[in-house]
Amino acid sequence: MAVVTSFDAAGLHESAPTANDADRRASGQSLERDPGMPTSTWRLRSDAWEYLRFAIKRLESGHETASILDADGEISRNLRALETLELYWAGFGQRYVAEIREALDNGEYSSALERIGRVVSRLRGTSIPADHRDDRLDEAERAELQDDSDPRPRFEVLLVDETTPADRDALRADILKLRSAADAFVYDYVIVPSADDAVAAVLTNPNILAVVIRPGFSDRSQQRLSRDMRETIDLAHVDSAGTTATSRSSLASVQRVLGLADTLNTLRPELDLYLVAGAHIEDLAGVLTRRFRRVFLREDQLELHLSLLRRVSHLYDTPFFTAIQEHARRPAGVFHALPISRGGSVVTSKWITDLVDFYGLNLLLAETSATSGGLDSLLAPVGAIKKSQELAARAFGAKHTFFVTNGTSTANKIVHQALVSPGDIVLVDRNCHKSHHHALMLTGARTAYLEAYPLNEFAFYGAVPLDRIKQLLLDYRAAGRLDEVRLVTLTNCTFDGIVYDPERVMAECLAIKPDLVFLWDEAWFAFAAFHPITRRRTAMAAAKHLEERLSSSAHATAYQEQRARLFDPETGEPAADDAWLAERLLPSPDARIRVYATQSTHKTLTALRQGSMIHVYDKDWYREAEEPFHEAYMTHTSTSPNYQILASLDLGRRQVELEGFELVQRQLDLATSIAQAIARHPLLRRTFRVLSGHDLIPAANRASARPMPHRDGFSTMWQAWEEDEFVVDPSRITVEISRTGVDGDTFKHEHLMDRYGIQVNKTSRNTVLFMTNIGTSRSSVGYLIEVLVKLAERFEEETQAREIDGERPAPAPMPPLPDFSAFAPDYASADGLPDGDLRTAFFRGQRRANIEHLSHAQLTERVAGGAKPVSAGFVTPYPPGFPVLVPGQLVTDEVLDFMAVLDTREIHGYDPLRGYRILRED
Ligand SMILES: Cc1ncc(COP(=O)(O)O)c(C=O)c1O
Repeated sequence: MAVVTSFDAAGLHESAPTANDADRRASGQSLERDPGMPTSTWRLRSDAWEYLRFAIKRLESGHETASILDADGEISRNLRALETLELYWAGFGQRYVAEIREALDNGEYSSALERIGRVVSRLRGTSIPADHRDDRLDEAERAELQDDSDPRPRFEVLLVDETTPADRDALRADILKLRSAADAFVYDYVIVPSADDAVAAVLTNPNILAVVIRPGFSDRSQQRLSRDMRETIDLAHVDSAGTTATSRSSLASVQRVLGLADTLNTLRPELDLYLVAGAHIEDLAGVLTRRFRRVFLREDQLELHLSLLRRVSHLYDTPFFTAIQEHARRPAGVFHALPISRGGSVVTSKWITDLVDFYGLNLLLAETSATSGGLDSLLAPVGAIKKSQELAARAFGAKHTFFVTNGTSTANKIVHQALVSPGDIVLVDRNCHKSHHHALMLTGARTAYLEAYPLNEFAFYGAVPLDRIKQLLLDYRAAGRLDEVRLVTLTNCTFDGIVYDPERVMAECLAIKPDLVFLWDEAWFAFAAFHPITRRRTAMAAAKHLEERLSSSAHATAYQEQRARLFDPETGEPAADDAWLAERLLPSPDARIRVYATQSTHKTLTALRQGSMIHVYDKDWYREAEEPFHEAYMTHTSTSPNYQILASLDLGRRQVELEGFELVQRQLDLATSIAQAIARHPLLRRTFRVLSGHDLIPAANRASARPMPHRDGFSTMWQAWEEDEFVVDPSRITVEISRTGVDGDTFKHEHLMDRYGIQVNKTSRNTVLFMTNIGTSRSSVGYLIEVLVKLAERFEEETQAREIDGERPAPAPMPPLPDFSAFAPDYASADGLPDGDLRTAFFRGQRRANIEHLSHAQLTERVAGGAKPVSAGFVTPYPPGFPVLVPGQLVTDEVLDFMAVLDTREIHGYDPLRGYRILRED
């Protein structure tokens, strides 16, 4: 019997799979009431089949009676849910579920079990069902079984058209005929009759990689869909309505086809769309091809088949990884650097052959310093690396993508150096990663820090409210210095999962300064491009959408109307700042869309450590940026970049294009189930608290009322991610631990890691951040919950022992987080605006004669005496990795108080023995 781990209200237990239990608990909804819940369908579907197999097996073996088949029983509920769900998956379909039901009604339990077993085997990825009895199969079934055991990668193609059962059988027979042993992949059709069902299918079934639309489809679904699914379908149609309206074609049927194509493209742009039309294909082709890869006549089955396979082979293609493999297979002599290459210095060594034993010989065969022979140079790519980067640009929706082998720390420095000259003003979130501060110092930019809203209760920061960014830009405009402002840099999402609305931020800033450039640090957000809802808040998707918006005539009119309100018609002077802050500002249709994003691919997707990417969506790339970018890239890129990192970036890209949606959906869903398990378990609930959007985002910066939109379903999340200024990335779970009686650092090291081998990175004094990623499994989630229960029991015992008169000890008081104090007068701007000169202060501090070391106590005494000491360097607690002090910054009481209670072990730039580095007064 298959046993899966599930959570129950009393903790973790090993039990028979109960789809309803697991999902009702996880989603707060019953399976039947919500059969099409897209966020957890992957789990729901396989649980339902597993449960059926378990239950019918008991029935067949006489351990249960036929009463378990009652209409209100769990088996019937699962079957009803699967009748809806299976419409959206290839292979078995609704008819198959109906046949199982019929077999059960007729008491043919073994036959039902055999059918269920086949589905379970396919879902588990095993080819031969455990209950398989060959003698009972007819020819068609035997052919299907053989098909199931085909080891080739398999994908699904959605066909949207009203079809009869006979049509469908004919189609299936046709594909089997077209299939050839030489094909690298196999595919199956999912056939749905309506536009609504097409949307439901692409939202629930991540195996779908291509869609074939035939104009005969109907509009609305006849299925019993959940409310969440119905609302999501409506939102999807509305969301793409603007795009369709721009078409000049007046043909109603063409509009329907275009509308559906746009909706599907908005949801999953990686899907390949084909149109199969009956006639007038020549006329249609001109109107439709921008949306469709190709338009075919019905009889062009073979051409369509070849196109489908060819497209997937393009997604599968990994030019650099392939080149590395080929290089490793070639016999070669090395008369150059890198003794490790081809195992040279290792395999014959007396002392270090364990390197090969551990990593395998392939690693050494792949190590080379060659840039020819099929390989390529990262610094001047013309072959495999260039191609791989182009494919990555396609996958992430960028115009250009560059691989970086030294992490986003380097990627950030490259972008800053490419865009900023000494003296340019950069508006930057003070809590951004240290690499930005270093880059600002290197470029000689004048740094104007933006303050994020603090979350003092939890000892970390949120994000920078848009009002503050606008106000600062207006201040520079009022001072006549707006032309000096060059770049805005923000972290999206923050370490703690606060996500901006980049399109809104850019639009409103561009309304004040139309040539601003944006750098979005998406170190933690690479995964977001592969989910329909999170994608819209990535820099690349936002840039594209904004560009499309600016080109519409509706925008041009709205822009003119707003300008009339914001400028005095007589004098041409802008209205008071309040008016500019109160309106959602619209940029000029001529505003320049210049957007850069840096991503630590290795943090959230498949890539070796340090594998990062820079994505570019810059309208002025060729004129303004390409050459400076390449100079900056040369400055920071090693001439010996690690090929294994590059190959892993190539593979990571292949993965997200083929299965990114599935993996990200699972990542979000598993995080939600962790949050729910903590919220529902009595002991966990007493000990831990999962922070929601209501804790992490001020009410003024969110419109939606729900604390955890993702938990409520796809449509609630969709609306929150569309409307709210900030949202929380659901895959980050910040847990408040004050009631455990230990601080975050102790919890992380002594309890999670040392006792149970659970790794987390980020803590504050009273919180711990748990993250799911695309590699998280259901069993690892189960293990985490199990560990939390054990820890909670332990903490509760300890706390009870310490309790006096039944009172719990009060949590330790939190120090307020210090805002950026100010630059010292030597480095600050004379007009009172916040920009300062990091570089001059930094290089002064590099000369020993200019600095002194002061202990915490000495510095505290000086400040108490009225002195204003100035930091000579960066002081950065890691994690989270943003500086508490930067060169040229005044050291204040607040900074010292914060440092006094900081529990981070690693503080870059601060030596506890020697103290702080302070600039001597002249
Ligand atoms: C927001 C942010 N940006 C950049 C980085 C640096 O990324 P990498 O570790 O890839 O150098 C980090 C690392 O934690 C980060 O949190």
